[in-house]
Amino acid sequence: MSRKVSIGVLLSGGGTNLQAIIDAVEQGRLDACIRTVVSNRETAYGLTRARNHGIPAAVLDHRGFPSREAYDRVLAEHLETHGVELVVLAGFMRLLSPFFIQSFPDRIMNIHPALSPSFAGLHGQRQAFEYGVRFAGCTVHFVSEGCDEGPIIIQAVVPVLPDDTEESLAQRILVQEHRIYPRAIQLYSEGRLVIEGRKVKVTGDGVDAGDESAMVNPPMPGQ
Ligand code: GRF
Repeated sequence: MSRKVSIGVLLSGGGTNLQAIIDAVEQGRLDACIRTVVSNRETAYGLTRARNHGIPAAVLDHRGFPSREAYDRVLAEHLETHGVELVVLAGFMRLLSPFFIQSFPDRIMNIHPALSPSFAGLHGQRQAFEYGVRFAGCTVHFVSEGCDEGPIIIQAVVPVLPDDTEESLAQRILVQEHRIYPRAIQLYSEGRLVIEGRKVKVTGDGVDAGDESAMVNPPMPGQ
């Protein structure tokens, strides 16, 4: 029997990835309980998404804290108080301090809208578009102290089409983000992610080939 992993989602904006996670939980594709959603910005629409589904949502404004670590200490305490095992970053526009990362060792995931290790940092989609790559994509990874560089869990690849704009490419990537993030959390929930140095080994069976619209590694069950 699968357990439910307790997660806390951190965001700063619209929260479409949060919505994908909520939908996956409600549809029985993700064995997780979202204990809390936290935003550093009170205007983040992701907070409304959480409240619409009865999920506790909190604003923790970073302004007014004397240091990054002072903020992160309060944030970590909030997550621990809510029983969070896995921290899920979903568009949280803040760098995390070493204190925070060490507080949740191998228990923080992030989604980056580029094929790591290319195009780290802000606006991965824009960087890829402007560079002129033929394939772009997204990456779910564990968080280490470097920027967007922790061990990779899942990546999805999309083509860059001739008529693309930055926006159309970002939208194509986002569709894949919504597929792979819940899947990565589910693999964690099932205890199937084993970190070996830089690599994440996915144990067990039950993965099918992906479809033609994206190359996903490891493959996803048919959807
Ligand atoms: C996504 O592009 C994600 O890859 C990045 O931040 C964005 C969040 O979007 N880390 P949303 O708030 O989930 O819609």
